[in-house]
Amino acid sequence: MAIGWKRICCPIDFSDPSREALRVAVDLCAAFGAELTLFHSYQLPGYTLPEGSVVASPKMLQELADQAEAHLQEWRAVAEGMGARNVRVAKSVGEPASEIVAFAREQQQDLMVVGTHGRTGLRHALLGSTAERVVRRAGCPVLTVHPEGKARAT
Ligand SMILES: Nc1ncnc2c1ncn2[C@@H]1O[C@H](COP(=O)(O)OP(=O)(O)O)[C@@H](O)[C@H]1O
Ligand SMILES: [Mg+2]
Repeated sequence: MAIGWKRICCPIDFSDPSREALRVAVDLCAAFGAELTLFHSYQLPGYTLPEGSVVASPKMLQELADQAEAHLQEWRAVAEGMGARNVRVAKSVGEPASEIVAFAREQQQDLMVVGTHGRTGLRHALLGSTAERVVRRAGCPVLTVHPEGKARAT
């Protein structure tokens, strides 16, 4: 086989469309004998007031990190239930698209599999905003998976 995808990254936001993307990523990993990495990025709550900016407390930061980790572990089990054998999880804090693209570059991922949509789920948009930014900026091929997949007529 000419294509040698050995590291496949599936960025997830824990939405149904990202679960469909995960299904495809798991099948591709099996086909190529690739390692699967589930990646989640989250943003910290914070806002600015005339007096200055309000940022999350260390306790809150830890809670957010723990929550993200717990969801990632749940989804690792989901991936294994779908047949994945070699699953890693990773997370980072920041604007999701930038974090996804940077992670894939740094970790030398060969392919990314993302949902066309995510939690916002504006069905009239061809691609969600994160998916669009990832497709534009990624250093590796990006496969976009429509949540309705094969059921779709066109
Ligand atoms: N915070 C995130 N961390 C990792 N992957 C994400 C994140 N947000 C979105 N994605 C990925 O991008 C896909 C498309 O989501 P997005 O473009 O945000 O759509 P929407 O605008 O509907 O939320 C998701 O199915 C998922 O694969
Ligand atoms: Mg989104």
